[in-house]
Amino acid sequence: MTEAKAIKPPTLPDAQTVTAVTHHTDRLFSFRCTRPASLRFRSGEFVMIGLMGAPDPKTGKQKPLLRAYSIASPSWDEELEFYSIKVPDGPLTSRLQHIQPGDEIILRPKPVGTLVHDALLPGKRIWFFATGTGFAPFASLLREPQTYQDYEEVIITHTCREVGELAYGAQIIESLKTDELLNEVIGEGFWKKIKYYPTTTREESPKMGRITDLMRTGEAFRDLGVTPICPQNDRAMICGNLAFNLELKEMLESYGLVEGANSDPQTYVVEKAFLD
Ligand code: A2P
Repeated sequence: MTEAKAIKPPTLPDAQTVTAVTHHTDRLFSFRCTRPASLRFRSGEFVMIGLMGAPDPKTGKQKPLLRAYSIASPSWDEELEFYSIKVPDGPLTSRLQHIQPGDEIILRPKPVGTLVHDALLPGKRIWFFATGTGFAPFASLLREPQTYQDYEEVIITHTCREVGELAYGAQIIESLKTDELLNEVIGEGFWKKIKYYPTTTREESPKMGRITDLMRTGEAFRDLGVTPICPQNDRAMICGNLAFNLELKEMLESYGLVEGANSDPQTYVVEKAFLD
């Protein structure tokens, strides 16, 4: 990880300064930046971030190139964290992957999103289902005290193609054990509420397969030592690629869960992962 020595004040409107960058694999990186004083958000929400585009050849004017990114840091953190894929020919991420501490990014301070506790009715267990960079909003929610205040059990599943792609999530989960705020607010040993279920689909690992298939056969429930999902006890949030979101949505509805929204809290919510 590279860190900024001294944070310079930003020069562009809506600009924030990058404070740290970590490359996890050749396809994935995360970075931290300053947080605008005006930005209030709920853990799990996303904002538009990006860089200035190239000047228009005719007018010479530059427009910002922005994409939706889930905030991976919790709402109480004084900085912001983001987790991103690197798409070699992606208009934004082909450039964003080269940012360094001290560089500026553009961040529109208007958070939105459905992966928030307010969109769910009270329940006993919460399931966070992620694929790939869809882990980002859960990196925020897993560091949010409300998650542990509201639920007796917190189950996070993360399906990736390769083992290296699980590293960011695994590090976040490991870091929870020594998280000062959570240990103080929820009590030591709070992390025993967490059940983590990482799986890979294209590289050998201790647990292979898509989470959807592992749930369909009952294997995931047996491995986790939990009862299958039911609308009385369970609440769920989904964030992954489109096919995954749709397949899991159908499965959850077959268990009796109902999709919720900020204006209509129900038993599960879904967000698409924001790819380039
Ligand atoms: P698979 O390798 O079998 O396609 P991606 O990197 O393409 O976004 O995929 C991330 C992970 O999500 C991969 O492990 C991929 O598995 C898995 N995945 C893709 N589609 C689905 C789906 N419909 N249900 C469950 N997992 C899926």
